[in-house]
Amino acid sequence: MTSTQPATGELPTAGRENIPAAGRRTAMRTHLCGDLRANQVGQTVSVCGWVAHRRQHGAALTFVDLRDHSGLVQVVVDGSVDVRSEYVLRITGTVVIRPEGTSNPGLATGEIELRDCTVEILSTATPPPFPLDDRADAVDESTRLAYRYLDLRRERMQRNLRTRSAVLGAMRAALAPLDFVEVETPLLMPSTPEGAREFIVPSRQFPGSFYALPQSPQLFKQLLMVGGTDRYFQFARCLRDEDLRADRQYEFTQLDIEMSFVDQDDILDVISAAVLAAARTVVGGEVPAIERITWHEAMNRFGVDKPDLRFGLELVELTAIFADSGFKAFAGAAAIKGIRVPGGSAGHNRRKLDDLTDRAKSLGAKGLVWMRVGADGALESPVRKFLSDTEAAGIVAATSAVEGDLLLLVADEWATACEVLGQLRNDLGRPPAGQGPLRFVWVVDFPLFVGIDTVTGRPKPGHHPFTRPHPDDLEKMESDPLSVRSRAYDLVLNGWELGSGSIRIHESELQQRIFGLLGITPEEANARFGFFLTPFGYGAPPHGGFAVGIDRLVAILAGEENIREVIAFPKTQSGLDPLTGAPTPVADRQLRELGVRVVAAAASAGSGTAAGSGSSAGSGAKSGG
Ligand code: AMO
Ligand code: AMP
Repeated sequence: MTSTQPATGELPTAGRENIPAAGRRTAMRTHLCGDLRANQVGQTVSVCGWVAHRRQHGAALTFVDLRDHSGLVQVVVDGSVDVRSEYVLRITGTVVIRPEGTSNPGLATGEIELRDCTVEILSTATPPPFPLDDRADAVDESTRLAYRYLDLRRERMQRNLRTRSAVLGAMRAALAPLDFVEVETPLLMPSTPEGAREFIVPSRQFPGSFYALPQSPQLFKQLLMVGGTDRYFQFARCLRDEDLRADRQYEFTQLDIEMSFVDQDDILDVISAAVLAAARTVVGGEVPAIERITWHEAMNRFGVDKPDLRFGLELVELTAIFADSGFKAFAGAAAIKGIRVPGGSAGHNRRKLDDLTDRAKSLGAKGLVWMRVGADGALESPVRKFLSDTEAAGIVAATSAVEGDLLLLVADEWATACEVLGQLRNDLGRPPAGQGPLRFVWVVDFPLFVGIDTVTGRPKPGHHPFTRPHPDDLEKMESDPLSVRSRAYDLVLNGWELGSGSIRIHESELQQRIFGLLGITPEEANARFGFFLTPFGYGAPPHGGFAVGIDRLVAILAGEENIREVIAFPKTQSGLDPLTGAPTPVADRQLRELGVRVVAAAASAGSGTAAGSGSSAGSGAKSGG
């Protein structure tokens, strides 16, 4: 597999290649450290940066590796200079070829060095708490984040920031010729029905009332369509109070778009153009066009709605083979599916197979049947004795199994069989981030409802309640809601949900019908989002949109496993910022002004302030206003 990541030490194509000299030259420097090459030999240059290493060669010579965001250059100073790690220097010297046998092919500037140097110390520095090179990757993350400004000096982090910037630039450029208008929407807004828990902001003018921070600009962008804007985009900051994971932060960025007088293909085309432009910019070459599969096909073949297409191990349909099975676990099962692990027999001893079975059960399966494939398609399995020879032959034929393969089978409801095997497929085959090709895929025709609420007996919406049902399924909405498809679609990249969107409902009658199905009365709808529904009575264009998760896109393009690595100042997994200490208590006076009283139990439920940065004001838990 090839790597999607640029070779170490090189910034993505769009990072620096096209920066004109004016982008590098300043009053203090003529070049960037990493730009110096043999073709500048003989020139007198000035560079500025930080001391990465310093080596003293007797009293006569001092070697300094000077670093800026572009790379390192070796500087040779006559005599001894009192500079230490991370001092900030300006060095003026002459570019010379390094003496025979001392060039460093691992370094872009490794052929040359600066001689006859004048050194100006611009800043002195306290020794950093961890080395600012690859060794910092092993440092505890909260330490890295507490000193993020040092962590950011490292090549990996600078590369990630620049990749992010290049992605934003490429997407903006892709939208520019398409008549999109960039519009900023409010950060202080009312609570919206998007599903995640919101961050709320108390109002000083109206004590007891609150703003919500936007989970996304969803409602406003639709109002922009009612307002005749036609095509909107925004790099929108969104806030959701969710449990944080590798692909989730409280604050994240979307490329958010909405378009009028469109159908699904119009949206998919625009978003495809934008993400492919971003991908091409980072990997520096062609990226294959994006294929499209239905949600049903994604579940059937990959067992998840965000399939990772970088590897095989596809799910195989086996139900028909066991129509009259004598094996009670399989007899009468709604669905029986399996995966073939090529050559998987050898690597899976009994203990590993037991672990796989436990994993399957923890995912909701009743059990897991495993089979080792022997010579001539003979199956070795604890359940072989319950199967007829016809069934055994049927399994081998359906899975195209050959000697040495391992087969894993699950019988259950269709969704459970798919989901369990989909997880096992990922467990067994998913390559690490940054490995293999970029495999984008559109997943379309998501179901409109995802199940029936056991308490209310009502269907549960798969997306927000303004998502348009598939036109071919409208007559089944009341009679068979779970079979109704929607005009909702996701973009998936290497197994991550990169974005999602839908064609919206723009007619009040259809909206009322959906609300009716969900058990939302007109009064309730009006109370919850009347400000959003009323405008639709004034002439709403058919419209739809999409939001791409920028943090996720950049992380995958940068070969990172965690979006924190591509966010300048992220929160830790537990939602703290070790650099600033946020969240912190606030002064009693501020709380009084806002009409907010902190309840002791709620306050002690958190673990106090983040990093104990010691600067927090107020008495938090005991404040009473
Ligand atoms: P959705 O809620 O699916 O859709 O969000 C779109 C994309 O945003 C990214 N994302 C996140 N990234 C990082 N941290 C998070 N906590 C987080 N939550 C979401 C994901 C996701 O696919 N308004 C609709 C879009 C629309 O219908 O137009 C929306 O926000 O990549
Ligand atoms: P049992 O008949 O429950 O003892 O199960 C016999 C074997 O079939 C065990 O290995 C179980 O893990 C497996 N098994 C049981 N139910 C299922 C199922 N629904 N799907 C796949 N395997 C199953």
